[in-house]
Amino acid sequence: MNEAQLDDLIAYLKFPSVSTDSTHSGDVLQCAGWLRNKMASQGLEAKVHETDGHPVVVGKNRHVEGRPTVMIYGHYDVQPADPLELWDSPPFEPRVEDGKIYARGSTDNKGQNLAHILGIGEMIAAEGDLPVNVIVLVEGEEEIGSPNLEPFLKEHKQDLACDIVAVSDTGMLAAGLGTFTYGLRGITCMELKVRGPEMDLHSGVFGGSVANPATAAAQIVASLHHADGTIAVEGFYDRVLPLQEWERESWAGLPVPPDETLSLTGAPELFGESEYTDTERRWARPTAEVNGIGGGYQGEGSKTVIPAEAFVKLSFRLVPDQDPGEILDLVRNHCEKYTPKGVNVDYELGHSGKAYVMDPQTGFGKAAQKALKNTFGSEPALIREGGSIPIVQTFKDVLGVDTLLLGLALPDCRIHSPNENFLLQNFFDGIRLNRELLKALGQ
Ligand code: BES
Ligand code: MN
Repeated sequence: MNEAQLDDLIAYLKFPSVSTDSTHSGDVLQCAGWLRNKMASQGLEAKVHETDGHPVVVGKNRHVEGRPTVMIYGHYDVQPADPLELWDSPPFEPRVEDGKIYARGSTDNKGQNLAHILGIGEMIAAEGDLPVNVIVLVEGEEEIGSPNLEPFLKEHKQDLACDIVAVSDTGMLAAGLGTFTYGLRGITCMELKVRGPEMDLHSGVFGGSVANPATAAAQIVASLHHADGTIAVEGFYDRVLPLQEWERESWAGLPVPPDETLSLTGAPELFGESEYTDTERRWARPTAEVNGIGGGYQGEGSKTVIPAEAFVKLSFRLVPDQDPGEILDLVRNHCEKYTPKGVNVDYELGHSGKAYVMDPQTGFGKAAQKALKNTFGSEPALIREGGSIPIVQTFKDVLGVDTLLLGLALPDCRIHSPNENFLLQNFFDGIRLNRELLKALGQ
């Protein structure tokens, strides 16, 4: 174990760089500055670029004509750490125990992108140069949908021109099993505000004559799914590309323990489209989820009131070739149709990102698989995943390049949850993986 590298990780994890929370803007900015200095100390020319939101940090080695250019992408922002009381130690005071480091952002994504940066530093120190041109781009807004990165890519298109992007921000099927992710789900979000009377009302005086916005919200939510779990929004599945036969066959043979989802989540039983397996549902089928719902009295005991308003936060995981804008239109029409009399609904559209899928057997795809094999010693697993990295399809659309997803997140790493952790072995393997990847891509 390299103590200096571990110290770097600990220092990086101490910044509460929560992008969604404006009270942390200063921490996000300080984290960007730290990262710039870290890149510079590893031999890269690095700069913090202002945007309309949080800054983007970009580092480059000395570029040489004729070599492939590889962009390494990651994010230094993190999800909020709450609920704080469920953490065994404070989320921004990294704790090492039993070979794991516990902190918000340890896996998602600081540990993984720092491994790349330190791998680059090791290689430059050992060999004086890298076999490829690299552009390391680490942004501060991934967890809020990367609203300012697409304009940044367009504005700096020449400077960011590359042949391929590599990202470690996805999962590994199991510890020690190199995993190549060739597809991700997309996402689109929407919030509904259901409004009824101008103020909260006595439910005895007015109940029965004035519609209840919380009831209306529940009716709208209940209309989104059929009882079998499929989505009832007309046209929702129209553009969904079917899974390919080779994928279904190869996924069925992956070493995923049959009860893994149950044991990881503690859910009482699985639920979903009966003609698909658990992995197929999570990696390649679209969903509609309620991420938050509220309205009315939330305190102790009872209160006889008709709330003036209620809200619902929805998100949809999308698969190729669903279009986020089109899905939002369909959902909105559906909700309007299922809104009961007596309330008004305001719709607020949230962030979006398209799904992504690439052919894992391209030249670059094979190079990534070779790097994984050299790092972990066995043939990598080829998978798709359910999470979203909205900028990945944008790299394809704006820069015209594919993205290699070589994740280091373990199934039990608890990203976005209390006690998020990163196996230190994966951190050090990630450093080796970076060196193997740059070697393989340079050939
Ligand atoms: N690293 C995750 C995405 C991920 C997780 C991919 C697990 C594959 C496996 C990323 O940081 C993330 O959480 N993305 C958000 C995007 C959203 C906020 C726009 C997501 O998927 O919810
Ligand atoms: Mn995340």
